[in-house]
Amino acid sequence: MKSVAFFNNKGGVGKTTFTYHLGYALEKLGKRILFVDLDPQCNLTAHLCDEDTINDAWSTDGNSIYKAIAPIVTGAGDMQTINPYKVPNRNIWAFIGDLLLSDFDGELSNAWTQVLAGQERGFRVTSSIYRLINEFAEQNNIDYILIDLGPNLGALNRAILLGCDNFIIPMIPDLFSLRGSQNLGRVFADWISNYENAKQRIGNLNFATPNGKPVFSGYVLQQFNVYRTRKTKAYQNWGGQIPTYIQEFVINPLTAVDPNLSLTLANFQVAEFKNYHSLVPMAQESLKPIFELTNQDGVIGAHYQYVDNCRNEFGDIANYLSSII
Ligand SMILES: Nc1ncnc2c1ncn2[C@@H]1O[C@H](COP(=O)(O)OP(=O)(O)O)[C@@H](O)[C@H]1O
Ligand SMILES: [Mg+2]
Repeated sequence: MKSVAFFNNKGGVGKTTFTYHLGYALEKLGKRILFVDLDPQCNLTAHLCDEDTINDAWSTDGNSIYKAIAPIVTGAGDMQTINPYKVPNRNIWAFIGDLLLSDFDGELSNAWTQVLAGQERGFRVTSSIYRLINEFAEQNNIDYILIDLGPNLGALNRAILLGCDNFIIPMIPDLFSLRGSQNLGRVFADWISNYENAKQRIGNLNFATPNGKPVFSGYVLQQFNVYRTRKTKAYQNWGGQIPTYIQEFVINPLTAVDPNLSLTLANFQVAEFKNYHSLVPMAQESLKPIFELTNQDGVIGAHYQYVDNCRNEFGDIANYLSSII
């Protein structure tokens, strides 16, 4: 079992769309998938399940991921176990997102202060979502936990990233995306070393805690808005600079803390996600990945070529990623 987070502190870079498609492609390889939607915007959830399911999950006795940590936010107690949503007829489960998740950020900030002060409660709160998802994954023989995160370096993302085995950065080849990645490695490196020190101080605890060693496993080159702009040359230019940026601003700070915090891959690019134009909203509407769309979903004529291309591309991506992670 491996947990993989998809993270970029810039929004709109295709994290959610890529994560969703990768999960379905890995399932087609025979893997059991657990999605976790930890972006309060809940886009992954909206791609996975219909509105009735979401309404139920958000109702008083529903099963959104917020319900699991609500007792901590209200001060009533520890994390409570909930069952994720299961996609019908598939080996795919999902902890449904919740707008209220942002309420947990303040609690997690306090908990982090307690972690650094070596207090058990801090570890208990910080590890709560980690414990929830890992317990379910272990009991249900999940192969991949795929975690979608919001675009910020806040306390929730810190708590989750410290508990992941691997993380992948979806990138758009533009100036903002590259600039956005400049503080990422340095911030992660601080989290990792502070957490490591705190863990050593506290010693053994009677509950599971994040390992604190998320391994950088490459970036995904998102090309989908290349043609929306006329600056195709500039995009090529920025795209060519990504490996240098990744080396300098992600890998160097991380491996300075621990040489094992990065996989050694040529150029660090693990996938390329092309522009699928109108098939993306069609896939969202149909609650299916692009590569499973049919004429009943609205696919006509030349679209079929794209559907087939997408199937081949994600087949290759899933094969490759499952060979390195
Ligand atoms: N490969 C793609 N081709 C075309 N449009 C895409 C593609 N990937 C994402 N999009 C569109 O771009 C927008 C941002 O993608 P999303 O996955 O939500 O990004 P993020 O999770 O990083 O905010 C969405 O509206 C989505 O429909
Ligand atoms: Mg998203």
